[in-house]
Amino acid sequence: MAIALPFLYKVLGRRRLYPLIAQGEYNAVKSYKPVAKKFPQVKSVKADERRHGDTVMQLLS
Ligand SMILES: [Fe+2]
Repeated sequence: MAIALPFLYKVLGRRRLYPLIAQGEYNAVKSYKPVAKKFPQVKSVKADERRHGDTVMQLLS
């Protein structure tokens, strides 16, 4: 994915690309949710993913 991002940035532009990236981060939050229930130490990782999504979206403002 990291190699594709510069290409996608050129094709889509940041207004369309960044929400897709943020959605990937928010999807990771959902993926970690059941894991964090079983392993509480994963809660910080889940929180990191939400913060990553929020950070990417803030880049659009
Ligand atoms: Fe992330």
